[in-house]
Amino acid sequence: PVLTVLLCAAAYLAGSVLFALPVCRLWGLPDPRAQGSGNPGATNVYRTGGWLPAVATLVLDAAKGWLPVWLAHVSGLSVMAQAMVALCAVTGHMVPVFYRFKGGKGVATALGAGLALAPVTTLVMAAIWALVMWRWRISALASLVAIVSGPIISALIEPNTLPLFGLLAILIVVRHRNNLIRLAQGREAGL
Ligand code: G3P
Repeated sequence: PVLTVLLCAAAYLAGSVLFALPVCRLWGLPDPRAQGSGNPGATNVYRTGGWLPAVATLVLDAAKGWLPVWLAHVSGLSVMAQAMVALCAVTGHMVPVFYRFKGGKGVATALGAGLALAPVTTLVMAAIWALVMWRWRISALASLVAIVSGPIISALIEPNTLPLFGLLAILIVVRHRNNLIRLAQGREAGL
């Protein structure tokens, strides 16, 4: 219906706002696209700015995933429609219309969208992220293990969201291809 299309468009536009950039400007930090991994995301903001701007980036990038999916949910849209809205938000972050379609890896935005649509699955994934992070201190590794676990966990706990987590896993793994190469070569930077 019309509302689904409208929320998908709004989610894509919201997703296209890369909050790492205004946050870094506000904190007086260099453009994250020219630092560290070059990724406009919370992890890379942490590398130059530490916890506070990194958490601000994480929360804002998650919120832009959470809000449109929550709106879809309270509007009574189907789980399939909500999943489409979630994918539009994550796609916005990955190929943002405001930044010549050069965006980030979508982990924080998927976290927010996931919390709105499948909170239990998403919290288990977040716990997996934290465990891997605690053990190995490599954000990309933690993100990859968590996102690949998503389809398995959702199949067990919230099976109607399995298609969403399957697609998110594919998209986010593809966006981490450079991290994967570095991990395979043992060159991926820890935190
Ligand atoms: O969420 C992105 C994270 O998984 C990796 O970021 O900057 O280490 O490539 P980065």
